[in-house]
Amino acid sequence: MSVLEIIDLKTWFQTQDGLVKAVNSVNLRIEKNERVGLVGETGCGKTVLSFSIIRLLQPTTMIEGKILYKSKDILKLSEREMQKIRGKEIAMILQNPTTALNPVLKVGDQIAEAIWLHQGLKKKEAKEKAVEMLEAVKIPLAEKRANEYPHQFSGGMKERALIAIGLACCTSLIIADEPTRGLDVTTKAQIIKLMKDMTKQRSMLFITHDLEVAAEICDNIAMMYAGELVEYAKTDDVFKNPLHPYTQGIFNSLPNRGLKPIKGMSPSLIDLPSGCRFYQRCDYAREICKNRHPEMVEMENGHFVRCLLYD
Ligand SMILES: Nc1ncnc2c1ncn2[C@@H]1O[C@H](COP(=O)(O)OP(=O)(O)OP(=O)(O)O)[C@@H](O)[C@H]1O
Ligand SMILES: [Mg+2]
Repeated sequence: MSVLEIIDLKTWFQTQDGLVKAVNSVNLRIEKNERVGLVGETGCGKTVLSFSIIRLLQPTTMIEGKILYKSKDILKLSEREMQKIRGKEIAMILQNPTTALNPVLKVGDQIAEAIWLHQGLKKKEAKEKAVEMLEAVKIPLAEKRANEYPHQFSGGMKERALIAIGLACCTSLIIADEPTRGLDVTTKAQIIKLMKDMTKQRSMLFITHDLEVAAEICDNIAMMYAGELVEYAKTDDVFKNPLHPYTQGIFNSLPNRGLKPIKGMSPSLIDLPSGCRFYQRCDYAREICKNRHPEMVEMENGHFVRCLLYD
């Protein structure tokens, strides 16, 4: 049984400008102790996909498909049933540590509350465990720091505190949305190491626009482009043999591989092209790519790609 199995998921928003098709027919599976990196440029639908899993979208959102968490369809659960899963079994480490922590509560108390809520420990034990968690995420002088407020923490320390909250709850699935965004190089490296060490025995969906960060932490990589997955493979295979022109373009844009950006911009999610969504930016585009929307096909064992070059 997979921990998470997303089947043909569509998440769309009705807006004044039209229907925003943020997530389109996504299929993705996460096994026990497996860490999957979801990689793609800004606006491609990564956060919307993760919010769909944890059901943090406004009720007017149109969601179709299945999200099976341990074989149970999350989309069919009542809000009360969902509350039992959210935070306790599926934890989300959010993108913005400044707004994710409560400014008027001491950091230690916020971690203790998460532990108390989800692990059924007594309040005093939860407080002790919170200090242990702060130590585990390498916050110096953890006992003293536990009594400080979020504004007394640096950006990197806030992110660590959020990771501590996420990990405190015996979760079986962690969704981490850009936990290294906005951090300086040194802090970023520390957080990456921390995430890697502390999620060894967990399942995780790790969201980032940075392929190299995903590679450090994840076993598999899912490349997302304009609301759909375009490549999926083991991390090593993506690096040794990137198949999709978009993935190849991302590699070519890395500082150590030529710093050559992909030309053009991704299409509007309100007005998606009928053929390949990468058509206009692709160096290998042919006439057929303009009109035919490619399916995801398996090229080698476990290496999937959505591109007519391989059809
Ligand atoms: N509530 C909403 N109503 C309408 N459109 C939305 C809503 N939430 C997100 N979108 C749109 O869905 C698209 C995908 O957004 P999303 O936040 O998932 O991107 P992302 O891949 O996480 O980007 P980033 O890397 O910048 O975080 C964007 O075009 C965004 O404007
Ligand atoms: Mg996002």
